Amino acid sequence: MFKEKVVLVTGTGPNIGGEIARTFAANGARVVCLDARSEIAAATAKEISDTGAEALAVTADITSSDDVERAVQDAVSTFGGLDVLVNNAAISPLGSLIDTKMEDWHAALNVILTGTFLCSRFAAKQMIAQNTGGVIINIASTSGHRGKSGHIAYATAKGGVLQLTRCMAMELAAHGIRVNSVSPNSSGTPLAGSAKSREGKPPRAPLGRWGRTTDQAQAVVFMASSNADFITGTDLAVDGGVLAGRP
Ligand SMILES: NC(=O)c1ccc[n+]([C@@H]2O[C@H](COP(=O)([O-])OP(=O)(O)OC[C@H]3O[C@@H](n4cnc5c(N)ncnc54)[C@H](O)[C@@H]3O)[C@@H](O)[C@H]2O)c1
Repeated sequence: MFKEKVVLVTGTGPNIGGEIARTFAANGARVVCLDARSEIAAATAKEISDTGAEALAVTADITSSDDVERAVQDAVSTFGGLDVLVNNAAISPLGSLIDTKMEDWHAALNVILTGTFLCSRFAAKQMIAQNTGGVIINIASTSGHRGKSGHIAYATAKGGVLQLTRCMAMELAAHGIRVNSVSPNSSGTPLAGSAKSREGKPPRAPLGRWGRTTDQAQAVVFMASSNADFITGTDLAVDGGVLAGRP
């Protein structure tokens, strides 16, 4: 499905980002695995290369404009272009309006919002220069759609990602670049540092189970595929029904 396509995924740790990278590779893509932690980028790229697919590990901090520009250049010089960007990297500090540390507030907004903005900016510049269209998928969260106590920086930044998605979709539509988001609810292991294990806890989703990383990866691959060619500026909730209401 993605033969000859180049896909850059940010935050390719063992949970959702790694699964997205592996799923694109399994569908024929050449995958750039970007992470701030070099061992994480390298491990996911190796896992993919071991299957016979092509992958490149890039160490970059998505809050740094220079890092992101270099990462896109590395992707282009290695694979000849860039077709799909998945903005997946995030951090999830806990804290309320009253007690969130200012450094946590700034860090969450920086990684989730500024990082998504920067990666999209440099990817879009490349896609526009190629004149081949393209796809940007932002990983949002059900937390960005609703008020939530004790997670104010993360949830607010994710709400911003939903609006950034719509704005980018409007700006890039004329270039044939589609921009959408996917909103997971609790999938795989909890986002690093955000919460305790879900083991033994009843799932909150109306569909009666916790999300799997494969649920998210398959949805992202669909949104990036030609099957979703007329979809832009919207969000796909992959949440077992959480945002729809209570059963
Ligand atoms: N896991 C869940 O239950 C869940 C629920 C809702 C939404 N999400 C969203 O899904 C996405 C993936 O979640 P996950 O659980 O796989 O996360 P994770 O914490 O397992 O992985 C995040 C990755 O991002 C990397 N990263 C963090 N800051 C970075 C930076 N500045 N530059 C580059 N890389 C950086 C980390 O090193 C890590 O590998 C996130 O956007 C998250 O908000 C996850």
